[in-house]
Amino acid sequence: MTIPKQLRGGSVPNHIAIIMDGNGRWAQKRGLMRAMGHKIGVESVQSIVKACRQFGIKVLTIYAFSSENWQRPASEIKTLMTLLKTYLQRELNNLNKNNIRLLSIGQRQKLPADILQILEDTIAETADNSAMILNIALSYGSRNEIIRAVQKITAKCLAGSLQPGQISEQVINDHLDTAGLPDPDLIIRTGGESRLSNFLLWQASYAEIYITETPWPDFRRDNLIAAIANYQKRQRRFGKTGEQAIVQPANKPLNEK
Ligand code: IPE
Ligand code: IPE
Ligand code: MG
Repeated sequence: MTIPKQLRGGSVPNHIAIIMDGNGRWAQKRGLMRAMGHKIGVESVQSIVKACRQFGIKVLTIYAFSSENWQRPASEIKTLMTLLKTYLQRELNNLNKNNIRLLSIGQRQKLPADILQILEDTIAETADNSAMILNIALSYGSRNEIIRAVQKITAKCLAGSLQPGQISEQVINDHLDTAGLPDPDLIIRTGGESRLSNFLLWQASYAEIYITETPWPDFRRDNLIAAIANYQKRQRRFGKTGEQAIVQPANKPLNEK
């Protein structure tokens, strides 16, 4: 673990989640095809995964494709799927070498069959890695995730294995795609928009949000350091007063015991 000097004064977030936005505008501004923005964006993913691993981040969630992104032109979807496929194929060795486990959230079964196969293989082949989790949100929409969780919980109630009165935050956490993962401490959105775009709505309840104008293809190690340094200056109060928060420093995610 190598923590850069700018970050040595505080603790790094346990879980960082990133809305990787601005690829298309990055390309269009340069007179390039949107696809080029996605292609260079893959290089940003590689750089940020490496940096998170070095800084000791435990979970990195990246929003790669939303349930709403299926509405884009077929050619753009194809570009994104091809980039995903080559990324997964190329990255397996690197993930294993760096002890990184791959997970995914979202409706995987909607992905093209060849990509689903590679995704599942990569998840299986990295399952024993323990230094960091790289969690990719693919065909992910938070409302859909919540609907599926409610369906699973309701089925258990109807079967009699769960009583409605037993439904707690923990029960809901356990039925989301992110079951077992801590809530994100820091959500970064590149590309300047101030919205969540259906990302981790339940899990983000106490996340610190950092929005940067920098588009994703330009977002690299130094930008990540700046985001974490900004996070370290904040006081997470979780509803308490500032004084209480000093006594009980709250760099801890809500659902971490
Ligand atoms: C993010 O960049 C990548 C995906 C949503 C898949 P965009 O493609 O949304 O880029 P902009 O927002 O149009 O610039
Ligand atoms: C959010 O970006 C989804 C991903 C980064 C994968 P979008 O570009 O789809 O978001 P909107 O449409 O601007 O809200
Ligand atoms: Mg966008």
